[in-house]
Amino acid sequence: MSVSLSHINDHNMAVSSCCGREEPSNGTSYSASTAAAERKPAEGEPAAAAIEDGAGVGNSSQGADTKAAVQASVQRYYGEVLQDSSDLKTSACCTPNAPPKHVRDALRNVPDEVVAKYYGCGSPLPAAGLRVLDLGSGSGRDCYLAAALVGPSGRVIGVDMTDAQLAVARKYVEEYTQRLGYSQANLSFRKGTIEDLQQAGIADASVDLIISNCVVNLSPDKAAVLREAYRVLAPGGEFHFSDVYCDRRLPAAVRRHEVLLGECLGGALYVNDFKRLCHDVGFLDPRVLSCHEVQVTDAALRELVGEARFHSVTYRLFKLPGRLETACEDYGQVAIYKGSIPESGAAYQLDDHHRFEKGRPHLVCGNSAAMVGESWLKDHFEVLGDRLTHYGAFEACKEDFKSTIFAPQGLGNCC
Ligand SMILES: C[S@@+](CC[C@H](N)C(=O)[O-])C[C@H]1O[C@@H](n2cnc3c(N)ncnc32)[C@H](O)[C@@H]1O
Repeated sequence: MSVSLSHINDHNMAVSSCCGREEPSNGTSYSASTAAAERKPAEGEPAAAAIEDGAGVGNSSQGADTKAAVQASVQRYYGEVLQDSSDLKTSACCTPNAPPKHVRDALRNVPDEVVAKYYGCGSPLPAAGLRVLDLGSGSGRDCYLAAALVGPSGRVIGVDMTDAQLAVARKYVEEYTQRLGYSQANLSFRKGTIEDLQQAGIADASVDLIISNCVVNLSPDKAAVLREAYRVLAPGGEFHFSDVYCDRRLPAAVRRHEVLLGECLGGALYVNDFKRLCHDVGFLDPRVLSCHEVQVTDAALRELVGEARFHSVTYRLFKLPGRLETACEDYGQVAIYKGSIPESGAAYQLDDHHRFEKGRPHLVCGNSAAMVGESWLKDHFEVLGDRLTHYGAFEACKEDFKSTIFAPQGLGNCC
């Protein structure tokens, strides 16, 4: 099962979430940004100002030096500037809603230090038996949760490039494995960059579910991240992740700013550029599961970003080679949810406009039929019909579309 995990406001849990604190209303308590601004880069280390133009979409105009500068800046931010989630300057790396009960229960077992360094914006979490990969796993909170949810027959790998984060993540694996009562660990962490998962030893088609929580925006080469995600997913696998997007392409001054970059705003992709990248890689028809606006309340940062608006969005991208179309087409297919996913007994939420009630036939477009009938979800759905007869465009998707801010722009995302 995939759920969108939101911020924790259960005070029984030892959680120091950024979202549990008040957002500063002015620019006075500026600890993270001040620290970042005051710190001088070490010898040989690229300075923040060295981050050049390029929106991080993976264009060839961005040289290796620029990419290295972005990564060095991000490593500094997460390895040195931030001590825990209370140091965050904006709500971008936060999640606004309480997680469901089974996730709150699982969180009680996750070590305090791992949770304290959680900088995510809405954790997507998996079901039993799956092979899971977390891109930019940080202190490992979502991996620890996933290790419990996939059970001893599943496995979870976290990849991150920052040593300080990896050290915290690795510290509790053995103790946690014993706490879960597993005979051997199903959880491990590897050092590497998410643009080159080969280097971290992640083989082709070896993963059922990729999760990622507020990380892709930090990448200087988002196209490479999506290509790698597509490569390592098995057919029928899913990239289910939360990240921050913008309603426009940001100017270089915003993209270069170390705090805005570190806080997941400077690197936020213009949402239509993101959809184009998905399309190019083969992730057709990206689905929005949830979306909320990120508030930039700090006066100085607000001034810098101007009229740009940011949203934290959980997307679901399915790898279904040759089975997804750029538009939603009507083949008269029907999908019925069996109610077999634990914690989603009564209904299953595929995205923000498809909620499948248990046992009730739902008329679906060809893409939705493939997503529930041919992906890792296939054991939980019965799909009736095939694609032999085409009845035209699937109109219902357009009427149902809820994500107005991220409305489709001709890239086949209506459904
Ligand atoms: C906002 S934090 C999120 C961490 C974690 N997902 C969480 O929810 O707590 C971003 C993390 O991504 C890692 N990161 C950023 N860019 C990366 C890249 N290109 N390759 C690997 N890790 C990266 C950073 O080191 C940091 O630990």
